[in-house]
Amino acid sequence: MRNKLYFQARLKDKAEYAYKAIVQEKTSIGYYKLPEQDITGILAYANKIPSDVTSIAVIGIGGSSLGAKAVYEFLKPVEKLTRSLYFFESTDPINIQNKIDMLDLEKTHFLVISKSGTTVETFAIYKLLLSKQADTNAYTFITDKGSELEKYAQSIDASVLHLADNVGGRFSVLSSVGLLPLALCGVDIEALLRGANSVNKSFFEDGYLKSTLLEKALFYARNHAKYHINCLFAYSESLKYFCEWYVQLWGESLGKKQRHSAFHVGLTPIGLIGPKDQHSFLQLIMEGTRDKSVTFIQIEDFQDTLKIPDISLKHLESLDILNDISFAELINMQCNSVMEALLEEENIPLDKIVIPKANAENVGSLIFYYELLTSLVGELIDVNTYDQPGVEAAKKILKKKLKKKLDI
Ligand code: PA5
Repeated sequence: MRNKLYFQARLKDKAEYAYKAIVQEKTSIGYYKLPEQDITGILAYANKIPSDVTSIAVIGIGGSSLGAKAVYEFLKPVEKLTRSLYFFESTDPINIQNKIDMLDLEKTHFLVISKSGTTVETFAIYKLLLSKQADTNAYTFITDKGSELEKYAQSIDASVLHLADNVGGRFSVLSSVGLLPLALCGVDIEALLRGANSVNKSFFEDGYLKSTLLEKALFYARNHAKYHINCLFAYSESLKYFCEWYVQLWGESLGKKQRHSAFHVGLTPIGLIGPKDQHSFLQLIMEGTRDKSVTFIQIEDFQDTLKIPDISLKHLESLDILNDISFAELINMQCNSVMEALLEEENIPLDKIVIPKANAENVGSLIFYYELLTSLVGELIDVNTYDQPGVEAAKKILKKKLKKKLDI
């Protein structure tokens, strides 16, 4: 991947400070080690799932589902995946029933994924599915070592895989949480990690991404009050769920009370998909309040030759300019045109990430790039990037309400 910044932040002492803090964090925060982990255990476990299983269902929410979904939906249109992946994330009854109707329960393996092991949504759905498929061999549980969920799984003799130590939910896609469901569908998880590791090495071993990421993080941090809305404008439908993953990573990590002050800070993520959103949200970026930065993501080679036919339409001859060009060329031209238009405006910081093509290695790079960027910005705006007290508060209130109902 390549990343060109159209803004500048002078790298001085602050960058050195952020870099040192991140190097220090590597000793305690688990996700930094994931690109170099040994995945033989995960691959061996995936191989044990019977070959007549045609669907994999993930029961999990937030960090326990969004990462695998982002990678799966990115690769599904271009790679021959071996099984279909379904995500049970919502307590919307109609959504749940629709998903169940899509599955052949006898040919589905269920992955119940919860770091804490106690999330209400996950276990409401698990209880329902268990009432329909009681065979414990049809389930694998992924959770933190020693959680109540692990104890439950052991009590029913079901298999349990652990999350690596100190890996937070939204940073867990490159752990068993994302790797197992993806491996079960035939995604090349070695390539995914290879991509992540190339970013890891470039950043920590003085490659070009070190200065790029530091410069970008410094810019966001220094301007966090002014450009507090950060749009990710991806020119491919297949990046829709990557944008959802980004929204969680950025929002849940960076919207906090500062560690050393009484102030609340935060950067607001927005996920946009081109060209659709250039016919809607773009107006707000172009002429609205100057509080937004925009990162474009472009796929250089769509590996597709679909062309616009050479047809002239009466009274619409002006549209002959479209004839004979490929849709891949068109969509990238659209992205470049929007960028050019925005570059003519003042005070709209832009950058562009180019992915050579859609494959596991490149999405692995993109994931690790965003994880590092999030950690750097978190350090620079002085928040605890890895906790989520706001999310926990709502979880607690819901449990109280549910308990009251039991007490009545
Ligand atoms: O990133 C996070 O920590 C959260 O989004 C969690 O992933 C989400 O709340 C689900 O939690 P758990 O995996 O414990 O069920």
